[in-house]
Amino acid sequence: MNSLAGRTAVITGAASGLGAAMATRFVAEGARVVATDIDRSGGEAIARELGEACTFVEHDVADEAAWQQVIATARDLGGFDMLVNNAGITIMGSIETLSLADWQKTMDVDLAGVFLGCKYGVAAMKETGGGSIVNISSAAGLRASADLAAYNSAKAAVTMLTQSVALHCGRAGYGIRCNSVHPGVIRTPILDKVMAQVEDGEAMMNGFVAQHPIGHIGATDDIVNMVLYLMSAEAKFATGAPFIVDGGLSL
Ligand SMILES: NC(=O)c1ccc[n+]([C@@H]2O[C@H](COP(=O)([O-])OP(=O)(O)OC[C@H]3O[C@@H](n4cnc5c(N)ncnc54)[C@H](O)[C@@H]3O)[C@@H](O)[C@H]2O)c1
Repeated sequence: MNSLAGRTAVITGAASGLGAAMATRFVAEGARVVATDIDRSGGEAIARELGEACTFVEHDVADEAAWQQVIATARDLGGFDMLVNNAGITIMGSIETLSLADWQKTMDVDLAGVFLGCKYGVAAMKETGGGSIVNISSAAGLRASADLAAYNSAKAAVTMLTQSVALHCGRAGYGIRCNSVHPGVIRTPILDKVMAQVEDGEAMMNGFVAQHPIGHIGATDDIVNMVLYLMSAEAKFATGAPFIVDGGLSL
C-alpha cells in the first residue's frame, strides 16, 4: 500500500463524497494530500482523520487567487505531481427553467474551477518534471438529460478542456498527462442534494438504478481505483482521454 510514497496530491472538493474517498485512499497509499474545499468543517474533519499526511486548505475553486495559495502549499510539501479537479455542484434545470444565475454558478464551479486548477497545476508541474492531472467530469458530460442543461454543458466542456491541456502539455514536452474521468451515478452526498431538488427523490433514485445496464449505481471505490490508475506509472501512455466508469450508463 505504498504506491504513492513520496508524492503530493491536490484534491479539490475533498470534504465529502468522492474527494474525501480519494484523499483517504491516497494517504493510505503513502501520498501527502492537500485537501481543499469550501466546506471548512468537513475539510478539517477529514484532515484530522487522516493525520499529518493531509493538509486542509479552505478554497473556492472559482477563486483564482486562492488557487495560487493551494498550489504553493503543495509545492512547499515537495513532490507535487498529482492534481484531481474533483469539486463540483449539480443544479438541476432544463433550458426553460434554469436561471442565468444558476447557469453561471455551474460554469464557475464545474468548468472555470477546472480551468484554473489545470492552469496553475501545469505551471507548477512543468517546473518539476511533470505529473498527472485528472479532471472529474461525468457520464453527464457524454450523454444529455433534459433537466441538466448547465451540468451537461459544463461537464462536456471539461472533456474538451482536458484534451486541449493534454495536447498542449504533450507537445511542449512537459511530462504532464491530463485525463478526464466520467462516473455514472455514485452513492455520495451529492445525490441527497440532487434528490432534494425534486418532489419524489425515491422515484428518482429508482430511475437512476434502472438507467445503469449493470443493474446498480456505483460506489466511491469504483472511481478512486480509476483515478489511482491514472496517477500510476502504468498509465504513462494515457493522456487526453475520457475514462468512463459508469456501469454502462452512457451507452
Ligand atoms: N456522485 C455522483 O453520482 C457523480 C457522478 C458523476 C460525476 N460526479 C462528480 O464528482 C465530483 C464529486 O462529487 P461528489 O459526488 O463527491 O459530490 P459531493 O457533493 O459529495 O462533494 C462535492 C464537494 O465539492 C465541494 N464544493 C462545492 N463547490 C465548491 C467550490 N466552489 N469550491 C470548492 N469545493 C466546492 C463541496 O463542498 C463538496 O465537499 C463532482 O465534480 C461531481 O460532479 C459525481
